[in-house]
Amino acid sequence: MSPDEKKKNACLLAMEYVKPGMRLGLGTGSTANIFIELLGRQVNQGLDVVCVPTSVASHDLAAGLGIALTTLEQCPQLDLTVDGADEFDDDLILIKGGGGALLREKIVAKASQTMVVITDDSKHVDVLGKFPLPIEVIPFGEASTVIAIEKVAASMGMKGRIELRKSDGNTPFNTDSGNHIYDCHFEALKQPRQLATALNAIPGVVEHGLFIDIANVILIGNSEGAHTLER
Ligand code: 5RP
Repeated sequence: MSPDEKKKNACLLAMEYVKPGMRLGLGTGSTANIFIELLGRQVNQGLDVVCVPTSVASHDLAAGLGIALTTLEQCPQLDLTVDGADEFDDDLILIKGGGGALLREKIVAKASQTMVVITDDSKHVDVLGKFPLPIEVIPFGEASTVIAIEKVAASMGMKGRIELRKSDGNTPFNTDSGNHIYDCHFEALKQPRQLATALNAIPGVVEHGLFIDIANVILIGNSEGAHTLER
């Protein structure tokens, strides 16, 4: 079974969490796109929901499918966010941001009563960090910010490449909020909670891709269907 079919199995199960009248957060990425497509079909059959997208890409996809959209300014509290992840562990800690939308994704997930994560079994790990941790930084003074990130990592016994994400060739990738992303190849994040706290204390760091105590349920697509990991 292809990875996309496994992702679709997780998305089909996620649809069961969606109820009429809900205010939904829409994630970003290939798995979130499958969910948005399924949601679009339900909306066209009369499901009444209103959604806040976490990226311009998800906005455009959802709008094209006829899904009613709003913003957190107009609708600051949401019932449910459905979003993907790059890695997750048994404590439901996630690494997100492979698609570059981690800042808006975290804001939207934290504004939601429940976060359901749609994944496939390849993303379940014992120790987070094989997937490089994305850190969104403000471009002003970013060289200094990177040194501060290196110091935090070294103080926790981690080292590894900290790489500016590029969109093509030599152009830095710009997030929807106009920031840059550094992908941190630390390999093993043995103390994710301490790391998150230390990164949050660096002024140039806008946000990092560790989602801790945010996800309520992880739906893990596999070749038979999907199973659930819950807090
Ligand atoms: C985007 C994300 C995505 O949820 C994450 O990268 C997973 O993407 P995909 O579903 O394409 O594997 O965090 O910022």
